[in-house]
Amino acid sequence: MKEKKRAFITGITGQDGSYLAEYLIKKGYDVWGLMRRTSLDPLMRIHTMADDRSLKLRYGNLRDTSSLQRALEEAKPDEVYNLAALSDVGISFKCPEETMEVNYYGVSRLILEAVKVNKKVRIYQASTSEMFGTTKPPQNERSIFAPVSPYAEAKLMAYRDFVKGYREQYGYFIASGILFNHESPRRGEHFVTRKITVSLAKIKLGLQKSFSLGNLDARRDWGYASNYVTAMHAMLQQKKPDDFVVATGISHSVRDFVEEACKELDIPLTWKGKSLKEVGVTKGNKTIVTIDKEFYRPAEVRALCGDATKARTELGWKPKVTFEELVRMMTRADLEHYKKSL
Ligand code: GDD
Repeated sequence: MKEKKRAFITGITGQDGSYLAEYLIKKGYDVWGLMRRTSLDPLMRIHTMADDRSLKLRYGNLRDTSSLQRALEEAKPDEVYNLAALSDVGISFKCPEETMEVNYYGVSRLILEAVKVNKKVRIYQASTSEMFGTTKPPQNERSIFAPVSPYAEAKLMAYRDFVKGYREQYGYFIASGILFNHESPRRGEHFVTRKITVSLAKIKLGLQKSFSLGNLDARRDWGYASNYVTAMHAMLQQKKPDDFVVATGISHSVRDFVEEACKELDIPLTWKGKSLKEVGVTKGNKTIVTIDKEFYRPAEVRALCGDATKARTELGWKPKVTFEELVRMMTRADLEHYKKSL
């Protein structure tokens, strides 16, 4: 009987980790997931898989070499997916050292421990569209990187030093996905899309009166996370390690996202006022959206829109969910969830 392939996923408890684990288990892999101890329920997104014998969860941390060593020695992976990171761009301005420790040094620790266990291991590193920073869209693999946050700086340094660097110096198989924003009902609630769908669902049900946002005019290329993890896997099945942009090629503003979610929930919305005084108002002149300086970033990536031609042609990957479908999926999931609490 053919032996099952073994995958090791850091960040298994996050949005992407949970979708990727499901995808790989369906493909017949044995999956080892590395998770950090947190005070919140770490199994929130993976509880349906928690009893699956193909999934083994181990405690560990990209800041702790011995934990990586132990888990990797047990897993002996054919493929490693590094999805663990300090992933909140806004928070990276407040915690730059921690960001560098995890998103930069952590990547090197993981790679060096993984190749000790299996020299031929194939490694996926989660790079990010944030690395393009102020470079104007559309952005692709040949665009200039111009990061503006500690998060993006650390990711870019890891990309240069450990993805490209180790690939060229030592011939390791390390691929990297330059993923544009990807969302789902499993998205963390501090990211803007989920913050909007949770808040509006609660407003619709009378559980909340209003919520605050930062820059309404930032533009992002938003796709569906479950669809994006398939590209990660495809990258590790190529003959050679390479870098790929994964994106829908269509961008929308935060304002568009709010409007689309309101449309989906049948909440009439008009914008009034300007900049920090701008508000979103509904029936009866009730303010449901306000602007708070707190949610602006010290430096902002204004517009991202990816050109995923290379992923389409070389991986056969394509975006499968439109912006409207994504907003609908997320608002409906939150509405259903909060209805249960009534
Ligand atoms: N989080 C947040 N909260 N963002 C807001 C808010 C708010 O209240 N109001 C406006 N925004 C704007 C941000 O300034 C940014 O321009 C945009 O909404 C998207 O913010 P996030 O959802 O926090 O995501 P991100 O684009 O900064 O980063 C995400 O995508 C990257 C690319 O895939 C993260 O998932 C990164 O880890 C990832 O690399």
